[in-house]
This record gives sequence, C-alpha cells and structure tokens, in this order.
Amino acid sequence: MRRAIYPGSFDPVTNGHLDIIERGCKLFDEIIIAILVNPEKQPLFTLEERREMLTEVLGEINRGSCTLRVEDFEGLLVHYAIEREADAIVRGIRAVSDYEYELQMALMNRRQEPRIETVFMMPAEVYSYVSSRLVKEVFQLGGKVDGLVPDAVEARMRRKLDKN
Ligand code: PNS
Repeated sequence: MRRAIYPGSFDPVTNGHLDIIERGCKLFDEIIIAILVNPEKQPLFTLEERREMLTEVLGEINRGSCTLRVEDFEGLLVHYAIEREADAIVRGIRAVSDYEYELQMALMNRRQEPRIETVFMMPAEVYSYVSSRLVKEVFQLGGKVDGLVPDAVEARMRRKLDKN
C-alpha cells in the first residue's frame, strides 16, 4: 500500500493540479491532497472553500483504484507526512523555472526526514503555464480562464469576485 501526500495552497485548484493527481493515481494507492494552512498568506478562498472545491472536482478525474482524501495541515510538511505514514510527497514541475525551488524543498525535506521521498511529476504540456496565481490575476482583470480551472471553480471565482 503506497501512500503519497500532494501538498499545496490550492487557491484555487487548477486543471494542472487535477492532471498531476490523475497521474499520481497510476503510482500510488492513496493520495492525500493536503492544503497548507498558512496564517501569513492572504488567500482568495478560505480553507473551507478550498477544501469544498477540491472535494467537488476530484469526482472529475480518472482515479482507478486510488483513494483520494482532502485534508489540511500546519507546520512542517515532513512531520505531517510521517504522521500520516506516507511514503512520498508528490510535486508538479511545469518548467525548468520550477525546478530550482522544488529541488531546494525536496532536498531540505529529505534532510529533515530521509524516509520520505519526493516524486516530481510533469503535467500535460497544455497546463505547463497554468498557476493558481496567474489564473486569479487574469480572471480578476477580466481575462478568460476556461479550460484552465474546472467549471465549478470558475463559477466560484465569479461569485467571489461579484461579492467583493
Ligand atoms: O502550492 P504551493 O504554495 O507551491 O505549496 C508549497 C508547499 C505547501 C509545498 C510548501 O510551502 C510547504 O511544504 N509548506 C509547509 C512548511 C514546510 O514544510 N516548509 C519547509 C519546506 S522545505
């Protein structure tokens, strides 16, 4: 039984995240999608909203026999991974520019906890430029994000921005 943690801010979840989860399902029996609780960041969506959106859209992916769970965590990722008895941390690498930071994190995490491996996965090329940050920026300025986030997420962004 192989369990992985897929950590992130997921503010909001994008189709790139879903693509990585779907690919991860080919390698792991269980993936815990772990939302980072970071009191220093001002997210667009609350923790509860991010959890709801993730849970909603996970139904759209082809998971095979893989179990998917959505949780949140605070503190060091590797402590959380050990607590959950995970074997690996999954991270998506879109472009070379992601690699440097991801390598630093992976090596620091390994130094803290050698039992946890980091697995880098590449999303489909069509998502290679998609990030939650850019999606929010483009959407807030009136741009198009269809195909980059699930429809349910786009609808939530519309509601949120109408409200604000
Ligand atoms: O979606 P993000 O913002 O790219 O995810 C970053 C995340 C959650 C993987 C990273 O910030 C993290 O692991 N935070 C938890 C605190 C921690 O363990 N820091 C040391 C990293 S070497």
